[in-house]
Amino acid sequence: MRCIVKGGKPLRGKVRLPGDKSLSHRAICFAALAEGSSEIENVLLAGVTQPMLDALSAFGIAWSLNEQRLTVEGKGLDGWQDPQAVIGCGNSATTMRLLAGAMAATNVGGVLDGSAGLRRRPMERIVQPLRNMGVEIEATNGCAPLTLRHSKRPLRGMDHQLAVASAQVKTCLILAALVGDRPTRIFEPGPSRDHTERMLGSMGAKVESNKTDGKEMAIYQTYVEPLAKPLKPLKMNLPGDISSAAFFVVGGLIAPESEIEIENVGLNPTRTGLLDALGEMQAALSILQTMEQGGEPCGCIGIRHSTLKPTKVMGEQVVRMIDEFPVFGVAAAYAAGETLVADAQELRYKESDRIAMLCQELRKLGVEAIETADGFRVIGKGKIEGGEVEAHGDHRLAMALMVAGLGSREAVVVNGAEVVNESLPQFIPLLRSLGAQILCEDS
Ligand code: S3P
Repeated sequence: MRCIVKGGKPLRGKVRLPGDKSLSHRAICFAALAEGSSEIENVLLAGVTQPMLDALSAFGIAWSLNEQRLTVEGKGLDGWQDPQAVIGCGNSATTMRLLAGAMAATNVGGVLDGSAGLRRRPMERIVQPLRNMGVEIEATNGCAPLTLRHSKRPLRGMDHQLAVASAQVKTCLILAALVGDRPTRIFEPGPSRDHTERMLGSMGAKVESNKTDGKEMAIYQTYVEPLAKPLKPLKMNLPGDISSAAFFVVGGLIAPESEIEIENVGLNPTRTGLLDALGEMQAALSILQTMEQGGEPCGCIGIRHSTLKPTKVMGEQVVRMIDEFPVFGVAAAYAAGETLVADAQELRYKESDRIAMLCQELRKLGVEAIETADGFRVIGKGKIEGGEVEAHGDHRLAMALMVAGLGSREAVVVNGAEVVNESLPQFIPLLRSLGAQILCEDS
């Protein structure tokens, strides 16, 4: 699909977004590990969560959907069955890494595979530590397909040091640690999202994270005790996804005379790095109302069109906005001056090499964007010309490039825009409901 975004129209009104992707993946998977019936409201139904739902059926777990309300009949850690066929994880690395941990915990054997894009994502980061715990797992040149076999119980509880902060790897290891012979500790160099700790904690597991001061940098530690009793079913209404909200936030800042509100967005501090970065750029943002939903802070975000200033993002802040760099790059292009992103090598291992692809596509829109080994520099002019760009099979790049068109002088044409269905099928209708002019045609 090819979408043409015509800039210059204000965005006005309110939107409410589907449930957070990370929370949806966890809720679906953990509900299947609990004993009994879980009810999850506002679950994200999109390309990336469908494989997780399909996998439950393959492991013998019943679930049903009534609009966005999901019921899962969890069978506990001893009730999963070996799948009859390869489990397809689509494009979703979260599905693959969480399921590897869940399979280790439930001791089922099977093969996890995915799209050509997912087969390129690094899996050694879960395979090695799982093996150290006694899990029989094999990768294919460090990537998917992954084969898991029945392994000796209990698994070995142990300490792990992760080279890169990653909530997916942490979650995978936490799940395996639930059946360890002693507690497990996971050390990370940055504050990866803590949804697993909060959710499993609410289901009765003892999982805790804290930060300690190391010699050169802070160390983030997660402590997991083997389960003493079955996980309790989950009852949770999921807040909207801040990583999806990010596109509307930046859209509202750059489209002229805009004033919008995004309701019911997750505001977990391990996810709000973009709001901080935009605050430093003097964006007119306000958090209108905060509350807690199932142990997760959430609230409404108000956004007014703003003249953005350049900024620098590095270190721990990178981890707290790891999915937001495509749209942050667009915000940087609308700021006058040089914005710098460093310590973000991990962006090269996402749905696309987000450093290379973001810079390449921004340049096609007339933006000076310079790739560095661990990030990029954008020399913004306070505006974007327009042009034709490619999504490269990356949902967040597609949405960011469409957002770029909301304030551009000429239209922005995005090819391969159907990939937005991976994480936010409602993206285009919601943007149109705020007044955006977007014309899409099959290509
Ligand atoms: C996610 C963690 C992040 C993020 C991804 C979702 C999660 O990945 O980029 O979109 O749900 O745990 P990493 O764990 O690779 O940093």
